[in-house]
Amino acid sequence: MKVLFIDRCQVVKDAHMRTYDLILKKRSGQALSEAEINELVEGYVKGSVPDYQMAAFTMAVFFQGLNDDETLALTRAIVNSGETIDLEHLPGVKVDKHSTGGVGDTTTLVLVPLVAAAGVTVAKLSGRGLGHTGGTLDKLESIPGFRTGLSNDAFSEAVKEIGAAVAAQGQNLVPADQKLYALRDVTATVDSIPLISASIMAKKLAIGADALVLDVKTGAGAFMKDTEKAFELARAMAGIGRGAGRETVAVISRMDQPLGKAAGNALEVQEAILTLRGKGPADLEELCLKLGGWMVYLGGKADCPERGQEILKELIENGAALAKFKELISKQGGDLRVVDDFSLLPGAERQIELKSKDEGHIRALDAFKIGSAAVSLGAGRGKKDDPIDPAVGITLEKKIGDKVEVGQVIAVIQARSETSRFLIDSVGKMIRSAYQYSAGSVTAPPLICGWIDQKGDEHHV
Ligand code: URA
Ligand code: CA
Repeated sequence: MKVLFIDRCQVVKDAHMRTYDLILKKRSGQALSEAEINELVEGYVKGSVPDYQMAAFTMAVFFQGLNDDETLALTRAIVNSGETIDLEHLPGVKVDKHSTGGVGDTTTLVLVPLVAAAGVTVAKLSGRGLGHTGGTLDKLESIPGFRTGLSNDAFSEAVKEIGAAVAAQGQNLVPADQKLYALRDVTATVDSIPLISASIMAKKLAIGADALVLDVKTGAGAFMKDTEKAFELARAMAGIGRGAGRETVAVISRMDQPLGKAAGNALEVQEAILTLRGKGPADLEELCLKLGGWMVYLGGKADCPERGQEILKELIENGAALAKFKELISKQGGDLRVVDDFSLLPGAERQIELKSKDEGHIRALDAFKIGSAAVSLGAGRGKKDDPIDPAVGITLEKKIGDKVEVGQVIAVIQARSETSRFLIDSVGKMIRSAYQYSAGSVTAPPLICGWIDQKGDEHHV
């Protein structure tokens, strides 16, 4: 017995030494092999590599980076840590889209039906909102009856029948990412470009779409506050996609201010419906057409992305896009009458108008502050399992570039009758502090900063 005990200690010690060597190798700036990266990730998921060693490794990556091969190997190791979803049996070219996260970003709700109406298959697995950003599932679930917890069979059936479905991403995908992300979150290693890109792309590659359009955000409401960094992230993510044999395009778009007018779940459903009718906010429509044009092109239904955009405009004008959204809602158990009657969506009882105390032109509207204000009202979650309120949120009446007079309404708080005066006051203050004015006129910077095409060529606007 004694000998066995010593042997086991020795085995654990050897494993720790081995991991130590890999941490040291990365700390000193050397590249790890695919086998070494697999060993670390597999060991971490199994528990033989403890948190403290993985934390040291992620910190070493934070400072030393990963080269393209290492980043791809890390992504693959994360994908291989769990289940993957095969879409091979589904018809057509499957095109997925992903946004790195923003405030009031309703593009998925618009793009799924819109691109499906063009004949491209959109089998979308989405997440919930966390932090100051909203989640597609939460938004869709504000439609009475809408189910996102589809079985694999129900998901496949919906995709086969109507060419689109949106469902919750299962718990068994990428367990290594779940564990790693939680570790990074408490060790100041989230904002590392190779770690972010491997984390996001693993979730995308675990789902077998043929092509992928990424919306990489830059600005106050985004992970990447400056555009050069956003291009760097886009480059890394698109490189992983191409390396894994998926056609991948990344669009870099501004998230200085929220997208559209609405931030809040049912409010954003309304905004998506308006956009599918051709009556949505200009910025939201512009981004949807840009991303959607690429999706249609990669899906083989247009010979260039510009033609893809024209096709989508036609589908908005002739009502086909809206009809597809009705099909999708109905197929997933929702009340499709909401499309024609917004009063069937959850609504907030109180509308509190915020009037400007300043006069001038809006030069900034901090998306992070607006997102946080919407979360305080109950539109999002502070913690993973918090409930959300579909009805509440913020409607922005004025955005960057707009001229404002004293006393004009800049935003409307949509709150519950029981929301306290104290909360409303503090949300009001937060929204006001998001707005900044200048005396002279302001031109809003272009929404789209550039893109990286499927060959990896970069275009800066
Ligand atoms: N989103 C993710 O999914 N992973 C990251 O690492 C950062 C943002
Ligand atoms: Ca919006």
